[in-house]
Order: sequence, then structure tokens, then C-alpha cells
Amino acid sequence: MTRDNQSLIEHRQHHVPRGVVTAHPLFVEKAQGAELWDVEGRHFIDFVGGIGVQNIGHSHPRVIDAVQKQLAKVTHAAFQVVGYEVYTQLAERLNTLVGNGAHYKSFFSTTGAEAVENAIKVARAWRKVPGVIAFRGGFHGRTLLGSTLTGMSAPYKQNFGPMAGEVYHTPYPDAYRNFSAADAIRSLEDLFATQIAPDRVAAIILEPVQGDGGFLPAGKDFMQALRELTTRHGIVLICDEIQAGFGRTGEMFGFQHFGIQPDVITVAKSLAGGLPISGIVGRAEIMDAPLPGGLGGTYGGNPLGCAAALAVL
Ligand SMILES: Cc1ncc(COP(=O)(O)O)c(C=O)c1O
Repeated sequence: MTRDNQSLIEHRQHHVPRGVVTAHPLFVEKAQGAELWDVEGRHFIDFVGGIGVQNIGHSHPRVIDAVQKQLAKVTHAAFQVVGYEVYTQLAERLNTLVGNGAHYKSFFSTTGAEAVENAIKVARAWRKVPGVIAFRGGFHGRTLLGSTLTGMSAPYKQNFGPMAGEVYHTPYPDAYRNFSAADAIRSLEDLFATQIAPDRVAAIILEPVQGDGGFLPAGKDFMQALRELTTRHGIVLICDEIQAGFGRTGEMFGFQHFGIQPDVITVAKSLAGGLPISGIVGRAEIMDAPLPGGLGGTYGGNPLGCAAALAVL
């Protein structure tokens, strides 16, 4: 087969469904730092970085070296079967980075959507009530619960229902459209009054800066009011740091701009510079709520991903 973009695109259209969109009409041959080259030798500056994954650039030599060393030792063993040090070292590193002196624990999965699923599982197991509140314009992945939590209809939810139960949406602050932190808090209180009482809510999940929703920061006033309100009601505050995390907003994590401490965060994307690993980092007592065996996944916290993540950090 000819290796030009057009023939590769035709081949792809015949064999891959239209539901997975490839935004740019090119096939990549290699990528390095902030640049990539297509199969025809054309050279591009990459502003996308694999959708917020390459915050340290493509093919960083220290990541490649760490993955190659790990590859020669063990590629997969399943953390549910035997332990391996890179997993626990990565957990310790993230717990220290996120915990701000408090005892946090980490659990690893493979994709961002899985991290979101597990954050909700942990929060529900801890609170023992089902309700979850998410925000309009938020994006949390493409699994059933991820797309239920996502606050955008087409194409993410369109034709895929029924969605998962006990998820409620409320407006996110939007400085560009004059919707203030106070407006957003009022909407949330209205939701409590009309849809679900706070004692039935396990978690509120939000991106500290909405990514797919239009790069909207939640803002300090809103995050501080939300932290006060969730603490008052005992609701688990989950920051989805999958896109905002790992330096993308200037701080290591998006929440660090707002002077608040979340109960649980989700991580993925730039955590491992292109290797598929995700996770949740949260207060030890909340993370320990699921029964032994309640968390896991064959590939979760794969050794190559853990080694890459340690190199990235
Ligand atoms: C904020 C946020 N949460 C969750 C996800 C889902 O991650 P994944 O595509 O790895 O499942 C994304 C992906 O874009 C995201 O930006």
C-alpha cells in the first residue's frame, strides 16, 4: 500500500468507524518535543500534544530510557496478583504532591474515564449515598458513567442512552458570559432545594479549568465557596485533573490556583508522557472505603506506565 496521507486516510475510512474522528488529515511518522512529521515528510509544530498528554514534549529521552529499562524487567504482572515497586513509588510521589501534608492514597487504572469511574465508586462507598453532581460543559470521558457526567449532549451522549442514574448537572461559572461564582453557587443551592438534598449527594466532580468545555477556569471564589459547602455537608469534592494537571495551567495541579484542598483528584494524560496510565489520589480514609477487591483492573497501573510517570514527574 502507498504511504501517502490520502491513501492511508481512505484505508482508515474503510476499516475504522466514523464515530472516532481524526481531526487532522495526516498520518504521523514520528514526533519529538513539540514537533511532528507526517508520512510524507512534512514537518509540523504540534499544539495539541495528543490532547493534553505531552506537556513535557513527545519522546522525552528520560521517559524513553525509563520505559526501556522497565520493559527489560517486567512489562505486565497485574498489581492484583503481585506487587511491583514502581507502582508504590508512584503512589507515594503523587500522595506527597497532592496531599499537602495529609495522608492521601493512590490507585491506578489505565484511561481517564476509568479514573473518573473509580473516583465516583470510592466517593459512593465512603458516603453510602448515590447522588453525584457534575457541571454543564464539563467533560469526564466516554464510558457510560463518564458520558453521563459529561455536561455536553452531542456527540458524547447523543444516541447512547439511557445514561447512568443519580447524576445531576448544574451551571459552571463563566466569566466570559457574566455568570459569576455567586450565580453558580445559587444554582447549586437551587438544585439542592429542587432535585436532590445534600445528604443524598456522595460527590461533586468538576474540572478546576474546563478543557473541552472551552478552557474556562472555575475561579478562586467559586472553588472556595464549593469547598466550604462540600465540607459543611460532608460531600466528597473531586477535582478532575486529567486535562488540567501536570503543569498545564502553570501549577502542578489546577486546584492549586485556588487555595483549596480537594478530597480526591483524578489524573491521567500528561502523567506519563504518552504511556496509558490513569489514577485517583485521595484522602486515605475515603480511598479505603471500598472493600478489598472492589478496586482493580487487569492493566491498571501497568509497570511501563508507572516507570514513565516517575520519569515525567
Ligand atoms: C477532564 C477530562 N476528564 C476525563 C477525560 C477522559 O480521559 P480518557 O480519554 O483518557 O478516558 C478527559 C479526556 O479528554 C478529560 O479531558
